[in-house]
Amino acid sequence: ENETVYDYFNRPLRDLRISVTDKCNFRCTYCMPAEIFGPDYPFLKRNELLSYEEIERLSTIFIQSLGVQKIRITGGEPLMRKDVATLISRISKINGIDDIAMTTNGVLLPKYAKELKEAGLKRVSISLDSLDDHLFGSINGRGVPVSAVLDGIDAAAAVGLKIKINMVVKRGMNEHEIIPMAKYFREKGHILRFIEFMDVGNSNQWNLKDVFSKKEIIETIHHVMPIEPIEPNYPGEVATRYRYIGTDEEIGVISSVSDAFCSSCNRARLSANGTLYTCLFASKGHDLREIIRSTHSDQELADAITEIWNKRKDKYSIDRSKNKTERKKIEMSHIGG
Ligand code: GTP
Ligand code: 5AD
Ligand code: SF4
Ligand code: SF4
Repeated sequence: ENETVYDYFNRPLRDLRISVTDKCNFRCTYCMPAEIFGPDYPFLKRNELLSYEEIERLSTIFIQSLGVQKIRITGGEPLMRKDVATLISRISKINGIDDIAMTTNGVLLPKYAKELKEAGLKRVSISLDSLDDHLFGSINGRGVPVSAVLDGIDAAAAVGLKIKINMVVKRGMNEHEIIPMAKYFREKGHILRFIEFMDVGNSNQWNLKDVFSKKEIIETIHHVMPIEPIEPNYPGEVATRYRYIGTDEEIGVISSVSDAFCSSCNRARLSANGTLYTCLFASKGHDLREIIRSTHSDQELADAITEIWNKRKDKYSIDRSKNKTERKKIEMSHIGG
């Protein structure tokens, strides 16, 4: 039987988000601004990364001894790492896993969607912030055209992966794209989720004034296409769901800033170099690579992780307005969102 591990506030551990690389082929302004993530940026070296064997071993412990049900592969851009489908196929075969998904910018999906699906991947979250080439090219920092992502979305759909689209909304950047995006993906039949611009990392010059709030997003859409709230799919779902009235077509809003969801947060995050973080906004993690590379047994590893989770008190988003002093946070590209 699966044991459930609880934290200090009684939140179970259910999700594990695994970053497989901190590199990305985009330079999104709100995530990896090109001025900071330049040619000299100290990305992780190959030998610092957990191997696929090590990730598989940790995943097995998380699933079989610690109650994790869902694994999500992230980056940076996860498809930049060689042969990710091999990793997916190992993880999807672990007894007890319920769900395996990936978060990607989509441009490598035409190349990899088929092998990912065959390896057992169930779902992808694909990021897209605008349907306008000029704007999207400047947001992604590399001039990548919208069609490159749309092709990725089509490739994923063609092989039968379930798809959600993630749109980060930032005031003054792309709020005028909310309606075109909503219409387009309603028509396409993919769930679009709007994400409030978050103060992740130290590089994106976050300011509360730049947050286009959940309330504003909802009002913008409701005005043109009436929507109503619907129940979460499962406890602790990150997005709040809405549907276009009179249909079963839905959208979601992820409101880490204006309406925090820490009280049900059941997510642990593993960086590509094997550090475990118990919050997206953590300043410090726990080095599991060191433990896994010494002689420890699986039981010892499970005990170490249980102890970390038992002590977990994170609720960064709830406390955000009280956090008066600036502190160093882990970068989004290192922890995978
Ligand atoms: P589903 O499994 O489909 O519900 O996906 P998801 O929304 O959990 O994952 P995805 O990687 O698509 O994340 C969407 C957005 O939610 C990203 O911007 C994440 O950074 C953000 N997000 C996910 N989990 C958390 C969390 O625990 N806290 C905060 N603040 N944001 C989160
Ligand atoms: N605020 C909100 N969402 C962000 N993402 C990356 N950086 C930020 C930020 N500062 C999104 C990406 C991707 C997901 C993993 O997180 O667009 O969809
Ligand atoms: Fe890359 Fe995603 Fe960050 Fe954009 S948001 S730079 S695609 S990891
Ligand atoms: Fe979980 Fe931290 Fe996000 Fe709150 S801010 S929902 S504790 S990851």
